[in-house]
Amino acid sequence: MDDRQPGRPGGGASQVTTTTQDALTVRGEASTQAAPATQADSPSTGGDVVLRLRDAALRFGDRTLWSGLNLDVAAGEFIAILGANGSGKSSLLKAILGQLPLSAGTAEFLGAPIKGGNRRIGYVPQQKLADEGVPLRAEDLIGLGVDGHRWGIPLPSKARRAAIDKLIHDVHAERYRHEPLSDLSGGEQQRLRIGQALAGDPRLLLCDEPLLSLDLAYQTVVSELVDKSRRTRNLGVLFVTHDINPILPMVDRVIYLAGGKIRIGTPDEVLRTEVLSELYGSPVDVVRTRGRIVVVGAVEPCITHTAPPSDGHTHKGDAHA
Ligand SMILES: Nc1ncnc2c1ncn2[C@@H]1O[C@H](COP(=O)(O)OP(=O)(O)OP(=O)(O)O)[C@@H](O)[C@H]1O
Ligand SMILES: [Mg+2]
Repeated sequence: MDDRQPGRPGGGASQVTTTTQDALTVRGEASTQAAPATQADSPSTGGDVVLRLRDAALRFGDRTLWSGLNLDVAAGEFIAILGANGSGKSSLLKAILGQLPLSAGTAEFLGAPIKGGNRRIGYVPQQKLADEGVPLRAEDLIGLGVDGHRWGIPLPSKARRAAIDKLIHDVHAERYRHEPLSDLSGGEQQRLRIGQALAGDPRLLLCDEPLLSLDLAYQTVVSELVDKSRRTRNLGVLFVTHDINPILPMVDRVIYLAGGKIRIGTPDEVLRTEVLSELYGSPVDVVRTRGRIVVVGAVEPCITHTAPPSDGHTHKGDAHA
């Protein structure tokens, strides 16, 4: 662990072409190389550890999605999870939620073994947006987060109203709080879903592709909302994305999954030609241009791109240069 302050601005990716200031400490030695995730990867921020994974592995039948995952996530730390379609990103979040049992290793949240249904872990699942005809207004979604977990004894209506008002304010949803959910834009809905995930006053926020289908402007709005939330609430954040660029200024570390293998480190450490070529087992170029990072030539579908396709999502076979 190094001595930087939790949640300091700029993450590990201030300017990607400069030498890294975020040397990962591996077995006590400063290293600028991303470590294979075989030894504990320490938080980059020095906050309290909220999540600890040791030798974690996830297998379905004889297929290993990932293994040997050692990770400490600190309060206030923002970690991006990158990897191709099917590499196990969503499954990693579900394992942390206790929805999928680890095949090996251990997972602890706030020092206790992970069990399902922990309200201090906020979750924005990977999913499509609201269908037309869903009879919910914007603030109803937030309300579900506030009292959806309670059985029998609802919050007193005043306290409930105050909690909803605060969350609506935090995600800047005042203007459309009474609108039907299905009438809202993708970005407006995503902000509400983040508000819903924050309702349990989480210590850890898991976001599974929250930028999906959003244009660049809304990608920025949603990313900044998550970033602000982790700073004001001192949250650990795990943020799955196919494009690192919208969150590059915020990210402390990156977890990169490919072919059952894992690399963890700052963006400068992991998003390097030699590191990703070794991870993929084939030549990959990491190009840094105009403050953006582009991975070219990955055998599996590309994970970062210069401009999102029309629906904002990276598709299998996309070749971004
Ligand atoms: N419960 C399950 N049983 C068997 N296989 C599963 C299960 N859940 C996921 N898988 C498989 O594990 C692989 C990884 O799935 P996962 O959803 O974690 O990928 P992902 O990295 O999130 O991909 P994407 O970028 O497309 O969202 C997929 O091949 C999926 O079919
Ligand atoms: Mg997924």
